[in-house]
Amino acid sequence: MIPPHGGILIQREVNQECKDEWIKKAHKLPSVALNAWELSDLEMIATGAFSPLDGYMNENDYVHVLETMRLSNGHIWPLPITLTITKDEAQTIQPGDHIALKGSDGIIYGMMEVQDQFACDKVFEAKSVFGTINNDHPGVKKTLSKGDICLGGPIWLLRRPSHEPFEDYAMTPEDARKYFDAKGWKTIVGFQTRNPIHRAHEYIQKIALELVDGLFVHPLVGETKRDDISPVIRMKSYETILERYFPKNRVKLSIFPAAMRYAGPREAVFHALVRKNYGCTHFIVGRDHAGVGDYYGTYDAQNIFQTFKKEEIDIEILTFEHAFYCHVCAQMATPKTCPHKKQDRLELSGTRVRDMLRNGQKPPVELTRPEVAEILIEGLNQNRTGRQNS
Ligand code: ADX
Repeated sequence: MIPPHGGILIQREVNQECKDEWIKKAHKLPSVALNAWELSDLEMIATGAFSPLDGYMNENDYVHVLETMRLSNGHIWPLPITLTITKDEAQTIQPGDHIALKGSDGIIYGMMEVQDQFACDKVFEAKSVFGTINNDHPGVKKTLSKGDICLGGPIWLLRRPSHEPFEDYAMTPEDARKYFDAKGWKTIVGFQTRNPIHRAHEYIQKIALELVDGLFVHPLVGETKRDDISPVIRMKSYETILERYFPKNRVKLSIFPAAMRYAGPREAVFHALVRKNYGCTHFIVGRDHAGVGDYYGTYDAQNIFQTFKKEEIDIEILTFEHAFYCHVCAQMATPKTCPHKKQDRLELSGTRVRDMLRNGQKPPVELTRPEVAEILIEGLNQNRTGRQNS
């Protein structure tokens, strides 16, 4: 089995037998409310998905990550993982304190030992992570609107956040590793997505599956921007396509409960390292991975891997050029495999599928499998009816 990033799979979830006692203890502590992004980070840290992190970052790691894409111990880590509070809240919390970590529902999910308290430079953070400080960028907006003070230190998970209605698809990195082992898969390719599966996704997944033992379809179901298609509809599309078009014994569908940052190249590295923690040996990076708008070049998220030594990343990156449907070839292809002209090609992207659906058009079979198109149209209609009735 591939070693986790940093060598050890972090485990910060309190044992079942001790949970009640810890929760009781946590109720007596001062508490901080986590937003959805921070809560998902808490779970990701605790289950080892973010190994080698064992808590929210201290200032030293935060600055190193922004400036060098590395933790202070030298391990590659491209994104800051922070817990922020307001300046007023910071008056009541000191380094050395233990605090309870609550969700927006008021439930205590975790506990933290505050080891560091520091002001974050949100503009510098946005510029470093997203390459822009334009507030139209969803990641920048989120960053600039968070609290001014960061709390750094190790965490403990006391309760897992609910993943309803996808509880059956929830797997920790340890669960995934056990699953791959039981299946006898030696090579596993991870696939990150935040869109319903379209034909380009299917094409690159199947090419990858020609090369490895198993495919780990790992759709992100944490916080996304408002116009992305809801996870409920997306999961239905994955279930359907896997049922109808993929060999059951070579594919595993599971949810990735992290928040989407839209940080393009940096997030591609993050997605790859995290999938290594889940036990994947390979990871797919296609066109404009984790991109949004025109902020990143089509292949920036692939090129960034050249800046690191292969053995430091230690998960094989399978890169794919922009895949499209070619009417002359009568199949999916990329510029690497198809000699025909632009006008012979049907370009594929999640944005294109979303735009067609919004305009009331059914995406053609070359763009989306008909079964998936039906699910998307039905989902969109339900959303519209829901909005009208509310
Ligand atoms: S992402 O933000 O999660 O990366 P998306 O769900 O659209 O978005 O993409 C999932 C993966 O498929 C990414 O690696 C992306 O680069 C790749 N991909 C999406 N569309 C294409 C395409 N037309 N050609 C090649 N790769 C693609």
